[in-house]
Amino acid sequence: MDTKLDAWEILHAEVQLGGFAPAAEKLNRSQSTISYAAGRLQEQLGVRLFEIRGRKAHLTAARTALPMLFFTALLPAAETAHLSIDASKAGAKIDRNLFGQFAENLGHGLYEGIWVGPDSPISNTRGIRNDVVTALRALKVPNVRWPGGCFADEYHWRKGIGASAQRPATLNAAWGDVVDPNSFGTHEFMDFMQQIGSEPYVSINVASGSPQEAAEWLEYMTAAKPTALAKERAANGHPDPYPVGFLGIGNESWGCGGSMTADGYLSQLKIYSHFVRNDNPAQQGKNGMLRIAVGPGFPETEWTETVMKGWQHHDWTWNIDGLSLHWYTVANGWTPSTPSTAFGVAEYAKTLKSTLFMEEFLRKQEAVMDKYDPEKKVALAVDEWGAWHAALPGTNPSFLVQQNSIRDAILASLNLNIFARHASRVRMSNIAQMINVLQAMILTDQEKMVVTPTYYVYKMYVPFQDGTFVPITFDAGTYTQDSVSLPRVDALAARDASGKLWVEITNLDPEKPVDLDAEIAGMTFHSANGETLTAPAADSVNTVAAPNMVVPKQLTASVKGGKLALTVPPKSVTVLSLEP
Ligand code: AHR
Repeated sequence: MDTKLDAWEILHAEVQLGGFAPAAEKLNRSQSTISYAAGRLQEQLGVRLFEIRGRKAHLTAARTALPMLFFTALLPAAETAHLSIDASKAGAKIDRNLFGQFAENLGHGLYEGIWVGPDSPISNTRGIRNDVVTALRALKVPNVRWPGGCFADEYHWRKGIGASAQRPATLNAAWGDVVDPNSFGTHEFMDFMQQIGSEPYVSINVASGSPQEAAEWLEYMTAAKPTALAKERAANGHPDPYPVGFLGIGNESWGCGGSMTADGYLSQLKIYSHFVRNDNPAQQGKNGMLRIAVGPGFPETEWTETVMKGWQHHDWTWNIDGLSLHWYTVANGWTPSTPSTAFGVAEYAKTLKSTLFMEEFLRKQEAVMDKYDPEKKVALAVDEWGAWHAALPGTNPSFLVQQNSIRDAILASLNLNIFARHASRVRMSNIAQMINVLQAMILTDQEKMVVTPTYYVYKMYVPFQDGTFVPITFDAGTYTQDSVSLPRVDALAARDASGKLWVEITNLDPEKPVDLDAEIAGMTFHSANGETLTAPAADSVNTVAAPNMVVPKQLTASVKGGKLALTVPPKSVTVLSLEP
């Protein structure tokens, strides 16, 4: 455990506020945690820091004078880094769809995580949890992929429409053979999208469905004309057509989605992409639905080669707008075995090293795409990615339940930065998965919920949605843990529509702060404020009992003569806005 910074923060608060109780309140920690930390510090420093008078602890004079001494004695010296940004230069647009989510019918992702049913004692709107909706609205989630994943190729949409009591219960064979009441179907998903203000990304069943089933689902969702399917939708409560912004044609068709060869999939793709029509009048022409083909989930490029070569010769009968790509961070290789709690800096470093492979993965696939599509008409949609750790002990292994630490938050920022750097081709991504599954935004426990460190990264990155990439150069430095070497720092810059410059800095080093100075050309600015997300230890997590272990804190940088100076804490994600 990295306790030094935490102890310093506690000490600082105690001295500033004059005691354990106000420090506990300010830091959102229990008084016992605060007094325990104080006791340990006393031991470590060999200085009497507090004395008990009556039933109260009082700070000693030595304690009041301590912060600087303690800071310099115990905290590792800061590293330095220099950034340089030319705000007058513009790169690609960072598509807001890079910040998409994935909600599969898996474990407690939908049932319990989103859907509790209208009769639940948990506060809900038409069966959808209000607490979850409120939290997600703050993320401005651009799109949500549903119903799978592997589940998509098992899903038959007709079982999930109509009166809830009449819907057949089925087995979720993809994820643990649990009984699925089908209460969360098309209408509930669309309602959820409307409640959180997001756009549906529907994946259709290619492996165990048929082009007819898929075409009819599309007509059911999108037809405005009075067809029998549109009337059925109206009879089920929704006369207006639904918007379907994105359509995934299958999922992992080389694996759980049909074990197809690339050529076999290409034949299917030609048929499906022709027959899945979006009839919603509001989604024609440039607002048309984007069709996303299955891409690889492995570094080899043959699959991409086959699909893109086929696409190059496509005629009017079929087309695609995107190619999907799946890549998870599975640090110790398959089967996932990294713990999501109670790990040390060695595991921390190994996981971050592993996640950086995303860069090379994208580069390889993009090189193939560039060959067949130099104009970058076909987007890359990284529609499954994130940390895949071992299932939490005591949970159903098929439910993919894991905790989410500051390590996962840093992993998220590194990947989002990679996507942004590839924004001319990568125009969509969906972290796996939204709630209670894999690298989640939210964890629920009955009527309680907690937002994770990864949630805060997504919240801090909202200003980057649809921003314009601004080139940034920096010497990343190196952080080495055992035999693992990593860049110490990563960074991203973008301008938003109002002209504000946003800068993100990730400090990967779990021990050392980084003193940054940034030269910013092409813009005059007077202030720089923002937030930083860090934590006492590399494995710090939020739980329903202690929801504020990892929360962003305000940060102000100093601005002098066009230069920005700030210190970012160890293992942190910082986002600043620079006001012209
Ligand atoms: O996200 C969990 C699973 O991972 C998805 O269902 C599948 O597409 C992938 O293998």
